[in-house]
Amino acid sequence: MNASLLSDDNPSIGVYTRSIGSGAEWWRVSLSERAFMYRIEHGRDDGSVDIDTVVDQENLDAKLQKWHREGYLSETEREQLAAAPQASADFMADLARASNAFAQSTVRTATSRSTAQVVTIGRIDVPLGTPNPLVPAVNPAWLFTERFNDIVEDIVENRRVMLIGHTGSGKTSLIEQIAARAQYGVLRSNMNGQTTVGDFVGFWTVKGGETVWVDGVLPAAMREGRWLIVDEVDFAEPAILAVLTAVLEPGGRLLLKEKGNDIVEPHPSFRLFATANAVGAMSQFRHLYQGANLMNEAFLDRWRVYLIDYLSPDEEAEVLMRTLAPHLSQTMAHTLAAIAADCRAAFAREDLASAFSTRRLLDWAQLMLRTGDPERAAGPAIYAKVSPEDAALIRSIIRHYIATQA
Ligand SMILES: Nc1ncnc2c1ncn2[C@@H]1O[C@H](COP(=O)(O)OP(=O)(O)OP(=O)(O)O)[C@@H](O)[C@H]1O
Ligand SMILES: [Mg+2]
Repeated sequence: MNASLLSDDNPSIGVYTRSIGSGAEWWRVSLSERAFMYRIEHGRDDGSVDIDTVVDQENLDAKLQKWHREGYLSETEREQLAAAPQASADFMADLARASNAFAQSTVRTATSRSTAQVVTIGRIDVPLGTPNPLVPAVNPAWLFTERFNDIVEDIVENRRVMLIGHTGSGKTSLIEQIAARAQYGVLRSNMNGQTTVGDFVGFWTVKGGETVWVDGVLPAAMREGRWLIVDEVDFAEPAILAVLTAVLEPGGRLLLKEKGNDIVEPHPSFRLFATANAVGAMSQFRHLYQGANLMNEAFLDRWRVYLIDYLSPDEEAEVLMRTLAPHLSQTMAHTLAAIAADCRAAFAREDLASAFSTRRLLDWAQLMLRTGDPERAAGPAIYAKVSPEDAALIRSIIRHYIATQA
């Protein structure tokens, strides 16, 4: 035999068996007489050998894959498996126990502070704040779905929450509606525009001949225990991101260098939120949100980032009903929700360049009720906001569902 072949340390060489049936069936891989070729034999249950052939590496790899699918393992693979920690089944069993114990301990914590008044949002008890003019109005039509429970829980735990998703998917209103029900004042600051570090942090100004400091939106929210929503954070200038990073740690304090190194401590009710359209899992849509910046991982890692998708057609029909019943019928609501879903599917296929928001759908439905004419209502609510090509495609989707006069 060729000396170089003897030193071949191909790990695939060995006998492959499986632990089903009699376990007597096997495949054997050995070095062949020819360089870079392997001998394969197949042993049957009855002790006979019915295949004895020579293959190249590529062919061998394909065979190995097939054997693995069928449950054959070599001696070495069996040893490796036995040495490895028990796979995911054990981990999941441990996790189930840990998670139950964790839930028990948090229930205990919740009851021990039961003197505080709470309001239940979804499945989560949220401590009540105090009424003040900055508390948003409750929108009774707003639908809390099961997937929002985790976010509400994060807010109770004082985590920093970033919501990402397409325009009009419900990011800002989710926070506002939680705040409305739990009675916390909300301040919003939009980064896509003229928000300067001065607006955000504060500045000196002259009032009645005196130079006074005016808190920006961040220290104001921190001192007064407001919930601050930093909208479109992916458009924020680097100086603002740097300031934000400082307060992202739980209990993070803000140092106002401009105000003689004044330190702002966060009020216990202070919460910080960000929304973005094109960050992280949404970065594939960056071309739709021109000017959005990539956020670095260190910044993103300081947030719990939730992807807020559009409501399902059934949920959206329910929101339409809650908002516009009794004028709108169930059937009408479902038809409109189906149109929105079709437009979104066309958007996902890149047949449409514009997203179809819940906001747009509600507006169209409202205008339709006033005008009695879906096509006329679609003008200002939809068509005028998109390109002529998009308008034509949306019109054809609408006509598929609603027989309007041409
Ligand atoms: N779960 C919901 N229940 C009821 N209405 C909803 C829901 N989600 C979204 N909406 C409706 O959609 C509108 C738009 O939502 P919102 O302004 O929160 O979107 P957004 O994601 O913040 O959009 P943008 O990225 O453009 O800021 C809301 O005013 C509300 O009417
Ligand atoms: Mg928003």
